[in-house]
Amino acid sequence: MSWWRRTKAEETGSGNAPGAGGPVIRLEGVSRVFKGDADEQTWALRDVTLDIHRGEYVCVSGPSGCGKSTLLSTLALLDTPTSGSYWLNGRGVDRMTPAERARARSLDIGLIFQSFNLIGDMTVYENVEYPLTLRGVPAAERKATVEGALGRVDMLNRSKQRPGSLSGGHQQLVAVARAIAGRPAILLADEPTGNLDSKSGESLMQMLGELHADGATVCIATHDPRWIAQARRHVYLFDGRVVDTLPA
Ligand SMILES: Nc1ncnc2c1ncn2[C@@H]1O[C@H](COP(=O)(O)OP(=O)(O)OP(=O)(O)O)[C@@H](O)[C@H]1O
Ligand SMILES: [Mg+2]
Repeated sequence: MSWWRRTKAEETGSGNAPGAGGPVIRLEGVSRVFKGDADEQTWALRDVTLDIHRGEYVCVSGPSGCGKSTLLSTLALLDTPTSGSYWLNGRGVDRMTPAERARARSLDIGLIFQSFNLIGDMTVYENVEYPLTLRGVPAAERKATVEGALGRVDMLNRSKQRPGSLSGGHQQLVAVARAIAGRPAILLADEPTGNLDSKSGESLMQMLGELHADGATVCIATHDPRWIAQARRHVYLFDGRVVDTLPA
């Protein structure tokens, strides 16, 4: 089974397959320093070197404040390293123009947040459709894609509802549908179960596990030991440094 409805060209390797021939993510010596008042500095990331390959399931963990969210924001192109290099799908991020970065963020990254980040004034359907509209995807393709993504997370029957009328677990599944709709090179999730009860959290992690089994590349930041145990690869951060990766 391949990553959610891959096109024929991608199946045969002739298309723009995500990460073809190299890691989807490559960080080399990445540091992120936040400057506070006076000379105060916080090293949220220190000299982080990390490759994530296509089809991997990586769990990033470590104590509060160790840099997990900064790492995911960096990977999502929402934050810029103070130093070091980042290649996304083989392209150097620091050499991209703002428009290229915006395009890479929209095409290559699927983001899932702890707080769902759905738009309350839009229906479930419109929330999933919105990023595709911004990308200029034609209407007929949008419809098929939105229905496919909502169907994949079993939320198609909620299409007309507003996020506020759904449980947290269901809102997060809509956020997953929005994240997978563009079949991004990598799905990034920052504490995706942080606002969910334990049963909804388990359903969500099962869904992410299924998407990984379909071929998605997944990177999750979490404190929860249950999800750490489930990941194939574990990256442990402490004070902004990668202090352990298992398996190496
Ligand atoms: N915008 C910012 N300005 C200043 N300092 C920041 C900023 N964002 C993060 N930090 C600091 O960088 C460090 C890493 O923060 P980060 O949010 O990445 O940690 P985290 O591992 O995600 O923590 P948590 O488990 O609590 O979510 C912390 O010391 C934090 O206070
Ligand atoms: Mg965090």
